[in-house]
Amino acid sequence: MSSPNTPGATGTASAAPLLRVEHLKKYFKTNKGMLLAVDDVSFDIARGETLGLVGESGCGKSTTGRAILRLHEPTAGRVLFEGQDICALGRRDMKAMRQKMQIVFQDPYSSLNPRRDVKTLIGDSLEATGRRFSKEETEKMVLEVMDFVGLEKRLINAYPHELDGGRRQRIGIARALILKPDFIVLDEPVSALDVCVQAQILNLLSSLQKELGLTYLFISHNLSVVKHISNRIAVMYLGKIVEISDYRTIFSEPKHPYTQALLSAIPIPSVDQNRERIILEGDVTSPINPPPGCRFRTRCRFAQPVCAELCPELKQCGASMVACHAVKGDDGK
Ligand SMILES: Nc1ncnc2c1ncn2[C@@H]1O[C@H](COP(=O)(O)OP(=O)(O)O)[C@@H](O)[C@H]1O
Ligand SMILES: [Mg+2]
Repeated sequence: MSSPNTPGATGTASAAPLLRVEHLKKYFKTNKGMLLAVDDVSFDIARGETLGLVGESGCGKSTTGRAILRLHEPTAGRVLFEGQDICALGRRDMKAMRQKMQIVFQDPYSSLNPRRDVKTLIGDSLEATGRRFSKEETEKMVLEVMDFVGLEKRLINAYPHELDGGRRQRIGIARALILKPDFIVLDEPVSALDVCVQAQILNLLSSLQKELGLTYLFISHNLSVVKHISNRIAVMYLGKIVEISDYRTIFSEPKHPYTQALLSAIPIPSVDQNRERIILEGDVTSPINPPPGCRFRTRCRFAQPVCAELCPELKQCGASMVACHAVKGDDGK
């Protein structure tokens, strides 16, 4: 697989960010209390950059992606796209903004209407433009984008059940691309696919990014999947970002105990056969009315009394930003 990563910046995006997420919160009211799915998350993504967002299932990755697009209305915080606070936009302006900000989902099968053919599935996306296109115009645009994502022309009248997982995901990508977006949230786009098809789709996403100058938030529960495509990687644990760094540093010098545990679970053939596998023990803190302090402390090898009292903030530690009381920041604290 090609490695499109170019050396990125660390805690923040290097150029003026295309997307800036500031203190984003998304809480859900449940009958057991308030569920803090995303709790004060901030990051930048530069134009043309890919930020990988990783963490275990249920840690709030999808909710973050959806809140950025306002598919879930954020509870608090700001999302700035090209400097504009999209949370302040009215319905009509938000609709126009959505063309620039698209999402591709994990399971292409469940996100595609089984009763529609490829032409309709991709062409229907154009409704978001609010413009009317003739049949001929629509078909021309559909064929163009099919070519872009590597779908054979002959499939234009096929139905989802006639296609394999890789082709279905290509439809999902085509539906987003036909709107000519600048930014795409890729929510576990290859998790439902076989390994060799995963590589094909990852390569497609990288080449589309280069060709079209796209910016990605690439969500995955699997660190090894984001490794090849991300410039920077943010690690999430129960609603919070615990570490964010360039992709090289995350893999060579993981600093947060949770990142270290995630990395130790990735099998690396031949090298480092003797490295320690960190098994996470202890109970996972509930995201519903979580107690104060660090949410990872119940599973952490380095937990100290302060971890139960104070929630650690992200601080600069060399090339990384890390939220951990046990890790010394550049300021010596
Ligand atoms: N619509 C919803 N209502 C209530 N809770 C939700 C809703 N969507 C997600 N959650 C909860 O928010 C948390 C984060 O979910 P999610 O963002 O889907 O995690 P991830 O994508 O990392 O697996 C989970 O505890 C999940 O149960
Ligand atoms: Mg998810």
